[in-house]
Amino acid sequence: MRNKETIELRRHLMDTVRREIDFSQTDQNLGVPMPPIQKEVTKDQVLIKLPSWQEVVTPQGTLDYLIRNRRSYRKFEEKAMGAEELSYLLWATQGIRAPSPKRTLRNAPSAGNRHSLETYLAITKPMANEKGEILFKRGLWRYLPLEHALVYLSSPEPLETYVTEAALGQAFVGKAPVIFLWSTLPYRTEWRYSKASQKVIALDAGHVCQNLYLAATSIGCGTCAVAAYDQEAADKLLDLPNPDEFIIYMAPVGKIIQGNSED
Ligand SMILES: Cc1cc2nc3c(=O)[nH]c(=O)nc-3n(C[C@H](O)[C@H](O)[C@H](O)COP(=O)(O)O)c2cc1C
Repeated sequence: MRNKETIELRRHLMDTVRREIDFSQTDQNLGVPMPPIQKEVTKDQVLIKLPSWQEVVTPQGTLDYLIRNRRSYRKFEEKAMGAEELSYLLWATQGIRAPSPKRTLRNAPSAGNRHSLETYLAITKPMANEKGEILFKRGLWRYLPLEHALVYLSSPEPLETYVTEAALGQAFVGKAPVIFLWSTLPYRTEWRYSKASQKVIALDAGHVCQNLYLAATSIGCGTCAVAAYDQEAADKLLDLPNPDEFIIYMAPVGKIIQGNSED
């Protein structure tokens, strides 16, 4: 509906706010240290390296094929994904090219290279490497781009139900073998862009998810962007300190069912 409130909210899509900012007063220009580019791992947390995917996963398809064949999938095969496939998808979405504690360039662009996103995973089907060794059990995990590793968080059960609730009752989300849940720590971007951060954070998330769509297509997997979710349930599931960090986007991923003509 075209009403006063929705028209007023359109300002979030505009960049007029930039003119209101005194950039000499941003935290960056005031000399406040740059916020960490990745959330810290606490001493009690277990970190598991992702297997290298290059020898195992062979992405198929030219870029024009992948663009043409990308679509949203909401039905997936029952089986688990391989740990090498997950490794590839994480590399494609948030992988770091030249690790450095100060400045990292990644496989997705980000306004001012601020990368305010963290990637969480809900793994509903235990995930093995190509040798059949289970690397990642059922539960919630967080991706560490600097180490290309996962850190285990918790195993709330029944996980599928919690994920579906977090996805505002969209059951197909909870049924996927792995669900990507992206949070933002807005201050990473606000440190540089102050009030002009909101729109660019959302744009950053879009790029990451598009990489997921294309990379998933290249290995016979499918995904579906999900922006209709329950903010409170999603943040609670991952124990996020909203408003300093909160979920902004999700995407279930799984093997596509050949010949599936859903949607
Ligand atoms: C920002 C964004 C949010 C979306 N949110 C949802 C969602 O919450 N649930 C859903 O089923 N699909 C969601 N979608 C998927 C769209 O419905 C889908 O992209 C659209 O119907 C076009 O289909 P295609 O992706 O197969 O081309 C979302 C897509 C985008 C880009």
